[in-house]
Amino acid sequence: MKISAGNIQLNIEDHGSGQTILLIHGFPLNIEMWRPQIGYLSALYRVIAIDLRGHGLTPPTPGPYSMELLADDCAAALAVLGVHEPAVICGLSMGGYISFALYRRHPQLFSGLILAATRAGTDTNQARANRDQAIAVAKKQGSQPLFENMLKVLLAPDTYQDKPELVDNVAEILSQTSEDGVVAALEGMRDRADSTDLLEQIDVPTLILHGEADQIIPLSESELMHNKIPNSILEIIPNAGHLPNMEQPEVFNQLTANFLASL
Ligand code: MLT
Repeated sequence: MKISAGNIQLNIEDHGSGQTILLIHGFPLNIEMWRPQIGYLSALYRVIAIDLRGHGLTPPTPGPYSMELLADDCAAALAVLGVHEPAVICGLSMGGYISFALYRRHPQLFSGLILAATRAGTDTNQARANRDQAIAVAKKQGSQPLFENMLKVLLAPDTYQDKPELVDNVAEILSQTSEDGVVAALEGMRDRADSTDLLEQIDVPTLILHGEADQIIPLSESELMHNKIPNSILEIIPNAGHLPNMEQPEVFNQLTANFLASL
């Protein structure tokens, strides 16, 4: 359904009841990446998932999309949906970057945090240059070349062999991201703040999930977050790459459910 939040109509899904868990997708994905979690978790909890600006069914607005802007959209969605109790915020990759911005701006919204396949640090100079190159290509040739390059590394090597239908599903989800959304999100990620200093201040229980074969973000990033966030657990998911919630949904769901039950 569409909700009005400030100057934008956000597409969101809202299922189940009880403790709220907000799912924030990665780049350049959308709500559909959370399909295995929405069904499973909404039997016990209220699960809200959001299509960020320019992704899925939420239309683009002029960029860049700073992580703070996207975090404020998430906060606005919770307010519009009448979520007054603190929620568990779950962000994957770019969704993790947004979760850090949300924590900096609205820590009172959090009862727990799930950080999946993400990192606290900012882009290196090389990563920034790569973003600039991807932006230039997307503006000139459209987003398809970027989607094709990303699709080669989003999943674990074994996933490409074992789950071809999942590869097709991910390709379909990528293709739903608008070109303006791609450029604006790349600009926002390129310029994002370093959240490393925030880690020691996070005072809610935190679950850190990382696919053992993630080809985009190394496991050392999750180990660093685990070392610095006081009340955190790190779980490594075998046979999964950068999208462990889609590649190993049963394991991801079970670890998430255990964490939610422990709060
Ligand atoms: C994501 O999955 O959200 C992106 O790979 C994150 C990034 O490009 O830094």
